[in-house]
Amino acid sequence: MKILVTGGAGFIGSNFIRLLLRAHPEDQIINFDLLTYAGQLTNLTNLPNQANYSFVKGDIADSQAVGQVVKNNRIEAIVNFAAESHVDRSILNAAPFIHSNIDGVATLLAIAKKYQLTKFVQVSTDEVYGSTPLHTKFDEQAPLSPSSPYAASKAAADLLTLSYFKTFGLKACVTRSANNYGPYQFPEKLVPLMVTAALNGRKLPVYGTGKNSRDWLNVLDNCRAIDLVLRSGHPGQIYNIAAHNYRTNLQIVDRIKKQLEAAQPQIAFVKDRPGNDVRYVIDDSKIRHELGWRPEFDFETGMGDTIDWYVIHPEWWEPLLTAVKNR
Ligand SMILES: NC(=O)c1ccc[n+]([C@@H]2O[C@H](COP(=O)([O-])OP(=O)(O)OC[C@H]3O[C@@H](n4cnc5c(N)ncnc54)[C@H](O)[C@@H]3O)[C@@H](O)[C@H]2O)c1
Repeated sequence: MKILVTGGAGFIGSNFIRLLLRAHPEDQIINFDLLTYAGQLTNLTNLPNQANYSFVKGDIADSQAVGQVVKNNRIEAIVNFAAESHVDRSILNAAPFIHSNIDGVATLLAIAKKYQLTKFVQVSTDEVYGSTPLHTKFDEQAPLSPSSPYAASKAAADLLTLSYFKTFGLKACVTRSANNYGPYQFPEKLVPLMVTAALNGRKLPVYGTGKNSRDWLNVLDNCRAIDLVLRSGHPGQIYNIAAHNYRTNLQIVDRIKKQLEAAQPQIAFVKDRPGNDVRYVIDDSKIRHELGWRPEFDFETGMGDTIDWYVIHPEWWEPLLTAVKNR
């Protein structure tokens, strides 16, 4: 299959490309990415099967550029990871989120329709459902109730994607996953933020009381699920992807503190983010029963290895922190 992976230079996209090249050596992968502050080609060094991979720099909202890459490479499927992805940034300025997460997806869908692609996978998030009340879990039929401009932009993109299935018969699917952890995550997100702060002798900034709870999914488990949806997902369907590893932010930070105790990290509680959802709990029975997926990683091992990865790769994250500071 000839697959256009958009946003493949980011955290999940780069892990996905590595997985595809390993698991499907017959596929051709074209990575189309704008290389925003969150996208790094250093996420894609030492790829297996280099001959089946190429990179094109471009904006998913640029219809001409997307059309050209799809036509010239006879692309058969698109998996869209490209997005502005940091909730805090969406609170400061929603405009780039509207551009990439809504206009960008509208552009990709129009091109997918024009060239009659055989599959379109929109990578989305459990945040579109909003905060989950106690003793509840949200399945794919739950109403959308996003709290942040980020989550609202993702919900809009999900609806656009599903409309292209209903109106035009585009074979599109949406995946909604829990919080991912793993290597190559930009050091503004919880796990790498805390690890890099601890290693730099800075305090670990925890929002509010730290009691907000998330479900922590290994990025490779998410990538395997997305790959399965790409190949076997039923058109027009949404698939929740969960791990059932519920931890508060404080528990995650304590886990990191424990592993990095030699650095004697200290927590600093800071003012909570506005609209911060209390908890996300999604029901992933559908992908388990219909497609036979289940997560493989044990949380303790996966999180331990992830923390170690940041410890032994300062050459990856130090330049990113410097770039953010100088911006
Ligand atoms: N990280 C998570 O825990 C998580 C959980 C659920 C869903 N998601 C979703 O998964 C996707 C990937 O998330 P991530 O954490 O890898 O994000 P990321 O911020 O690490 O990467 C996003 C990538 O998209 C690229 N990009 C942004 N705007 C673009 C544009 N207009 N055109 C082309 N490329 C553009 C960036 O350069 C970057 O490489 C996002 O859609 C996000 O909403 C993430």
